[in-house]
Amino acid sequence: MSKVLIATEKPFAAPAVAGIKQILTEAGFEVVLLEKYTTKAELLAAVADVEAIIIRSDIIDAEVFDAAKQLKIVVRAGAGYDNVDLESATAHGVCVMNTPGQNANAVAELVFAMLLFCVRNRFNGTSGTELKDKKLGLLAYGNTGRNVARIAKGIGMDIYAYDPFTPAEVIEKEGVHAVASQKELFSTCDIVSLHIPATPETKGSIGRELVSLLPKKAILVNTARKEIINEPELIALLKEREDLRYLADIRPAAHEEFEAAAGERYFSTPKKMGAQTAEANTNAGLAAARQIVGFIKEGNERFRLNK
Ligand code: 3PG
Repeated sequence: MSKVLIATEKPFAAPAVAGIKQILTEAGFEVVLLEKYTTKAELLAAVADVEAIIIRSDIIDAEVFDAAKQLKIVVRAGAGYDNVDLESATAHGVCVMNTPGQNANAVAELVFAMLLFCVRNRFNGTSGTELKDKKLGLLAYGNTGRNVARIAKGIGMDIYAYDPFTPAEVIEKEGVHAVASQKELFSTCDIVSLHIPATPETKGSIGRELVSLLPKKAILVNTARKEIINEPELIALLKEREDLRYLADIRPAAHEEFEAAAGERYFSTPKKMGAQTAEANTNAGLAAARQIVGFIKEGNERFRLNK
């Protein structure tokens, strides 16, 4: 019987695991679960005889592909796939997919959880500010950006977006102002929320040049990847500008320096929490299971990432 491994260092919620198992067992697969593993050796041993793997932010590199002799497909249950070596996957004849959009609402809701916590002064009893009528900038306008915009409309925010891959008319049609550059977005908006992937082009791209353009009392929110931030430049700016605030869903590499530079103007989650909801786990996990069945049984390559 073909085996499918669920390898999640950060486990899915229990109902998601049950749903994934049900889809796969009904389709005739055997399911193996490896959760909360702490060493790569555990992962390497677990992949040895499986045809498919479902992962989250788990690192799947050449060593894993070398160890997985039967492997046909890896599905990243989520959006960002910077944790999978696509070139090595192709070299090993393995298909890699993600499940775009399935956890976007969860990430978008976390943006507002962190923003409200921040503008209400961490609920410390003092008078804060509101989000209504503030200018919100989205970089960029993919699944998560769109969900952030949807919630922001309900709050009554004035929404702007920059996305080089989405035509301005598509953005404008949804009641969002399309701006012509990242610089325009940063110089216009009171709050900028980052929704770009970590690629060679974007890594370290959010630094002094852009962040220094933010108006007074601005907030930068990062629910994307820590690698897109130029941490030394942002730390220096937070020291220089006592009005600036930074909220991050994932602990920056230089967490202690951020704390020392900005104190309570800085907040980060200890682990990436954007997609940590039962609903997001279920949406992404079940989609991953269905994509595996579709690929192995019918050769369906929708959502394939590597050529
Ligand atoms: C994603 O890229 O889908 C999100 O960052 C969620 O990642 P996670 O599954 O590791 O929480």
